[in-house]
Amino acid sequence: MKKRKILVTSALPYANGSIHLGHLVEYIQTDIWVRFQKMQEHEVHYVCADDTHGTPIMLRAEQEGITPKQLIERMWAEHKADFDGFQVGFDHYYTTDSSENQAYCEDIYRQLEAKGLIVKRSVEQFYDPVKEMFLPDRYIKGECPNCHASDQYGDSCEACGATYSPTDLINPYSAVSGAAPQRRASQHYFFKLSDMRCKVFLEKWVFESLPSLPGSTETRSRLQPEAANKMNEWLSSGLADWDISRDAPYFGFPIPGTARQKFFYVWLDAPVGYFGSFRNYFQMHRRTEADIDEFLRPGGDTEMIHFIGKDILYFHALFWPAMLEFSGYRTPTQVYAHGFLTVNGQKMSKSRGTFITADSYLKQGLNPEWLRYYYAAKLNDNMEDIDLNFEDFVLRVNSDLVGKYINIASRCSGFILRKFGGKLTDTISEGNRKWFNRFLFCQLNEEDTFLGRHVSIAQFYDSRQFSKAIKEIMLAADVANQYVDRMKPWVLAKNAEMDAELHEVCSLALNMFRILTVYLKPVLPKLAAEAEGFLRVPPLTWKDANSQNRLLPDGHQISDYQHLMGRLDQEHIEQLIEANKTSLQPAIQPGQAMQSAQSTGAAESPSSAPPFTKQVKREKTETSDGPPEITIDDFTRIDLRVARIIQAERVEGADKLLKLTLDVGSGQRTVFAGIKQAYDAERLKGRLTILVANLAPRKMKFGISQGMVLAAGDQDGGPYLLQPDTGAQPGMRVK
Ligand code: MSP
Ligand code: ZN
Repeated sequence: MKKRKILVTSALPYANGSIHLGHLVEYIQTDIWVRFQKMQEHEVHYVCADDTHGTPIMLRAEQEGITPKQLIERMWAEHKADFDGFQVGFDHYYTTDSSENQAYCEDIYRQLEAKGLIVKRSVEQFYDPVKEMFLPDRYIKGECPNCHASDQYGDSCEACGATYSPTDLINPYSAVSGAAPQRRASQHYFFKLSDMRCKVFLEKWVFESLPSLPGSTETRSRLQPEAANKMNEWLSSGLADWDISRDAPYFGFPIPGTARQKFFYVWLDAPVGYFGSFRNYFQMHRRTEADIDEFLRPGGDTEMIHFIGKDILYFHALFWPAMLEFSGYRTPTQVYAHGFLTVNGQKMSKSRGTFITADSYLKQGLNPEWLRYYYAAKLNDNMEDIDLNFEDFVLRVNSDLVGKYINIASRCSGFILRKFGGKLTDTISEGNRKWFNRFLFCQLNEEDTFLGRHVSIAQFYDSRQFSKAIKEIMLAADVANQYVDRMKPWVLAKNAEMDAELHEVCSLALNMFRILTVYLKPVLPKLAAEAEGFLRVPPLTWKDANSQNRLLPDGHQISDYQHLMGRLDQEHIEQLIEANKTSLQPAIQPGQAMQSAQSTGAAESPSSAPPFTKQVKREKTETSDGPPEITIDDFTRIDLRVARIIQAERVEGADKLLKLTLDVGSGQRTVFAGIKQAYDAERLKGRLTILVANLAPRKMKFGISQGMVLAAGDQDGGPYLLQPDTGAQPGMRVK
C-alpha cells in the first residue's frame, strides 16, 4: 500500500486560558486518528502551538506586572504539561509568537497585496481615552438596556440574557480603565474576500471531490455535509471583506510598512501558526526546504488535514483557504469539524463544577485513559455535540475496559505463569479455532471469506467513526470472554490430565488479548505499552492484527502480570466536581473586570464572524439555581399521570417516608414519598395526585419505589402534595 504523507493539526488553544475537558475532545480525537494512521505506517506529522497574540494577553500580562512574552511562556508550559498528561502525542508543540510564523504572515500579506486583495478603509470603534487604545467589544461594560442590571458586557446581559451591541449600553465604561469610551475612526486593513476571485475559488474548493486514496474507491469530500451546507449559506449570502488589522498597542506582529502602528489581527496569524510550527519542527529535524515545500506548497501528493471545533469553521473554511490560494501556498485537503462537549447534558458550568480543567482531572488522580476511552466511545464524524455523562462514564470504563478487556489477561495470565513457566503454545484444536474465527471476523466463518474485524475497525478509525470502532472492538472482547467462560480454565486447572487443554485455552485467550490491544492502542497508548511489556512484544502496529501474525509463536515467553487498570468510582467523580466548583462571583467592579473577562479564555470576536461563534466563547455565570431551559421534547419525555392514593402507611424505621399504594388506571404502584412530616397517612387515602410514571424504579432500604409523586416546597414550607382538579381520573396523562 502506498504511504500517505499527512500534515495534521488541531486548533491552537488560546494562551489565555487553561485547557479543559471541552478542549480535550478535539486533541484526543486528533491524537487517536494520528496514532491510528501511524500504526498503519503512514507518514504523519502532527503539529500544534499556543495561540498567543491579541488584546486579552496583552492586558492580562500588564495586570500581572509581567511582559506578554513571560505570560505566554508560562501558559505554554502549562498547556504542554496538560497535553502530555493526556498522552496527546504532538510531533511538535510550538507557539504563534515565533520568527517562522512572522515570516510566513508577512509573505502571505505581501502576496495578497500584490494581487490587489488588500484594501484600506476607515473603521469607527470604541476608544479608551485614558488607556489610549481601541477596545474590543468585550472590554466595554455598562448598564443593560433591557433589565438595567449594572456591569454587563457589551454583547449580552448575564442577568436577563438580552443581546445587543455595545452602543446600546447605558452609561458605558471601559473595563480596562473605567473611563467613558469614545467613538473614534482609524484606518484598517482588509482582506478582500468580496472579490469575485475568492468566491469562484471557494465554490470550487468546497465542492470539488478529492481523488480517492490508494487502495480505496471511496470518494472523499473536503468538508462534512453539515459544514458544506454552512459554506453554501455563507457563500450565497455574499462574503464581506475581513478586517485583518488592529491598532497599536497590540501584542502581535506589526504589518509591514505601517511603522508599527498597525498589527495583524490575531486570527490572521493563528492559522499561519500551523505553518510556523511545522517549519520549526522540520528544521529541528534537519529536513530541507524541499521537504518543507512538499507539505506547504501546491502540487505535491501530501495532505493537510485540520481538526477543529464547529465554532471556528468560518476561519478555517473561508478565510484560511482563500488566503493560502492567493499567496502561493497549498490549501487544506480536508477540514474535520467536531461538536461541543456538554457535561450531564448541559453546558459546562463553573458553579456546577463541570467546567473541569485538564490539570484538575490529572491532579485528582483520575486516569487520563478513562477519558480517552469514553470520548472514543462517543465520537463520530459529524458536528453534533457530545455529552460526558458521569454515570455512563463510570459504567463504560468499568464494564468495557476493566470488565471486558483487562479481565481476559487477569483471568488467564496466572495459569500460564504458574503452570507453564510463562510460555505460550500456538496449538489450536478444531473447536478452539472456531472460537478464534468468531473473535477475528465480524461473522462466524471457518474460511476467511468474511470481513476481518481488523479491516472494519480500521475503516471506522480512518473515517473518524470512533464510536463504531469501539463497538466492534467490544463485540470481539465479548467473544473472548464468552470463550474463557465456556472453557473454564479454573476448572481445567484442577485436573492434571487437562493441562494441554488449559495451556491452549489460556494461550489463545492471551492472543485474543494481544489483538484487542492492537485495536485499542490508538485510544489507550499507555495501557497498550504496558500490555506490550507484559506480553513481551515489540510495539504493536496494525499489521499485528493481520492474518499472518495472528498468533504468538510456540514457546513465546510472557512477563509477570501486574494489574493494568483500576476501576473508576463514583467518588472520583464527586471529588473532581468538588475541586472544580467555584462559588458565584458578586457583580464585577470596573477594576476587577479585566480578570473575569480573561480567565474564561475569551478573545475578541472577529468583525465578520458568523453568529454562532459568540456563545461558545464565554461561559455565562448562572444567576439562579433553576435548571436551564428545555425543549418541549425534553418535557414530553416525562410521563406524568394522575394517580389515586389507595393506601398510605408509615414505614418502620423511616422518619420521613410514607409508603403509598397508588391506583394508576392500568394497575397499582408502590411509591415511597418523603412527606410523613407534613401529612397524616390516614388523611391521604382516596386523594388524587400526580405521579412521574416513567422514572426508573429505585431500590430503597424499605423496598422498591416505582415512581415519584409531586409536591411543592422550599426552605420556608412544604411539602405540599399536588392535586389535579376534580374530574381527573387515575391514569390520565398530564401534559
Ligand atoms: N485559538 C483559537 C483557534 C485558532 S486555530 C488557528 C481557539 N482557541 S480555543 O482555545 O478557544 O479552542 C481551541 C479548540 O478547542 C477549538 O477547536 C474549539 O472548538 C475547541 N473547543 C473549545 N471548547 C470546546 C468544548 N467545550 N467542546 C469541544 N471543543 C471545544 O478557538
Ligand atoms: Zn439585562
